[in-house]
Amino acid sequence: MNESNEPTTQRVVAMALFLVLIVLVWLGLMKAANRNRPHGDDQAAIARGRYLVEEVARCSECHTPRDANGNLNTQAWLEGAPIWIMPVRPIQNWADTTPPLAGLPSFTDAQMFRVLEKGTGPEGEVLRPPMHTYHMSHADAQAIIEYLKSLPVKTH
Ligand code: HEC
Repeated sequence: MNESNEPTTQRVVAMALFLVLIVLVWLGLMKAANRNRPHGDDQAAIARGRYLVEEVARCSECHTPRDANGNLNTQAWLEGAPIWIMPVRPIQNWADTTPPLAGLPSFTDAQMFRVLEKGTGPEGEVLRPPMHTYHMSHADAQAIIEYLKSLPVKTH
């Protein structure tokens, strides 16, 4: 009895192992496929970051170039720009250009957190006006960084 059952037990075990292997390979493939795609949480952070950038802090007003009529050039969104406003009374260290933010080509996350949370330059230096000195929450700064990194880096 036992002898005749043994091959069946072995077959069941082999089948079970085979199924486990398939599941593992499938999970591995799913993970690889999702590696470059933002997860649900990231998508929510990106959407919130976009709202903060476009509607609250309005980074785009200064970091996006304008056309001849003064309208923001949506083809060069957040790609850095000449500053378009002048103070009524001269301010000595008034900056005349803004760096690109789309894709964050030139700042690390740590530097961005410093700018947005501490209100200083990337290495702790004083920010030149009209760049604002923001004192954002970590979550807001994080969302903004996620959004900026989701944008393509300027190639033209
Ligand atoms: C009113 C215009 C204005 C707005 C709004 C603005 N910026 Fe700026 N930003 C500037 C200017 C001008 C500079 C260049 C400052 C300098 O050269 O020191 C700058 C510089 C920066 C820098 C580089 C700092 C450095 O010293 O290298 C970062 C990063 C930055 N801005 C991010 C942002 C983000 C993110 C937002 C929105 C949350 C934002 N800025 C909103 C005008 C602005």
